[in-house]
Amino acid sequence: MQNDFNLDSKLIYVNHAAVAPWPIRTVQAVKQFADENGHIGSRHYEQWLKVEQHLKQDLASLINAQSANEIALLKNTSEGLSIIAKGIQWRAGDNIVISNEEFPSNFIVWDALRAQGVELRIANISCSNNPERAIIELMDTNTRLLSISAVQYASGLRMNLELLGKACKSYHALYCIDAIQQIGALQFDVQAMDADFVIADGHKWMLGPEGLALFYCKQSSMEELELQQYGWHMVEDLSDFNNMQNWQAAGNARRFECGSPNTLAIHALQASIRLLLKHGMLEIEKAVLSNVQILIKTFLQLPGINILSPTDISRHGGIFTFSKKDVDSQQLYQCLVKKGVVCAPRGGGIRFSPHYYNQQTEFERLAEWVDGYQAG
Ligand SMILES: Cc1ncc(COP(=O)(O)O)c(C=O)c1O
Repeated sequence: MQNDFNLDSKLIYVNHAAVAPWPIRTVQAVKQFADENGHIGSRHYEQWLKVEQHLKQDLASLINAQSANEIALLKNTSEGLSIIAKGIQWRAGDNIVISNEEFPSNFIVWDALRAQGVELRIANISCSNNPERAIIELMDTNTRLLSISAVQYASGLRMNLELLGKACKSYHALYCIDAIQQIGALQFDVQAMDADFVIADGHKWMLGPEGLALFYCKQSSMEELELQQYGWHMVEDLSDFNNMQNWQAAGNARRFECGSPNTLAIHALQASIRLLLKHGMLEIEKAVLSNVQILIKTFLQLPGINILSPTDISRHGGIFTFSKKDVDSQQLYQCLVKKGVVCAPRGGGIRFSPHYYNQQTEFERLAEWVDGYQAG
C-alpha cells in the first residue's frame, strides 16, 4: 500500500484532513490527460464523458447511493452546502440544528439564513459524552434541517450518523452530512444513514485534486432544492441546443451542474477513487483506524501530552489532535514543519491525520520529536 505513493522520503505526511498528496496513478492520469490535450485536444470528448460517468458510478458505490443519478460533481463542499441552504424554501419558524464544532463552511451558510427569520440552533457536543443526544435535544417539529460533519475537522470526533438519521426521520427534518472528513477514510453508507444530502470535496481522504466535490442528493429529496445555478449542462436534454424555449431541469443530480465539467480533475479523482475501491473501503478503514490507535497508544506513553481527540475507536476517524503541557502548539508545529512533518495546527493543538499507507515507524519518529521538544 505504501507503494501507491512516491512521496519525498524526507517527509512524514500526516495531513490528509487538509490536502492529501496524489497517488502515483493519479499523477500519471493527469500527465496523460495533459499530453492528450496537448496533442489532440478534445478529439475524444466522448471518452472523457465516459470517465465522468464512471467516476459518478464509483462515487455512488463508495457511499452506497442507489444510483449514479444521485451524484453531481461540484466545485467544493462549500458550494454544495450553499446550494442546499439557498435551495430550501424556508418557512417562518423553521429551525436548523448544527453543532458547535463545525468547520466555518458548515456554520456560515446557515448563519446567513438568520436574516430570513430562520433560527439556528447550535448543539454543544464538546462537553457531552453523548454528542448525538446534545443534538437531538435541540430538535423539534420545527426542525427543517440537521447539518453535521461526519467527523469533526479539529477534534476528530466521529458522529453516529445512523442514529442522527433516525432522529431526522422522526422529526421529518432534512438530513445533510458534510462528509469531507470521512469519505475515503472510512466506510460510508448513505442508505443506512438515510441522508438527504451529502457533500465531500475530493482533495482530502479521497486523494484527489482540489476543485472537485461529490454532491449526493437522494432521488426523493431532489425537488426539495429549488435550483440556484443555471446553464446548458443542467437540462434534461443537454444536446438539444435548438429547443431552449422548452428546457426542463434534468431529472437526476446533473440538474445541480450548470456548465462544463472539470474534466482534468475528473480524470484525477477517478484514478484515486479506483485505487480506494481496489483496496476496498473495509481494508482502508481498518488501516486508518489502526494508525490512529497506534498514535494514541504511542503518545499516551509520553509525559505531558494532552490528547484532544477521542481515544475510543468508535468515536474517531483518521484525525489525532494533541497538545503538550507548557508548550506553545504553534511553536511545536513550526518545529515539526522544519523536520519535514506535513501536519496542521488545529483545535488548540496539533492535528495529525494519517491515511491507510502511513507507517508505524513514522509515528514513532513523530513521538520522539514531540517528546524531545523543549519550549523556548
Ligand atoms: C469539515 C469540513 N467541511 C468543509 C471544508 C471545506 O471544504 P471546501 O473547501 O471543499 O469547501 C473543510 C476543509 O477543511 C472541512 O474540514
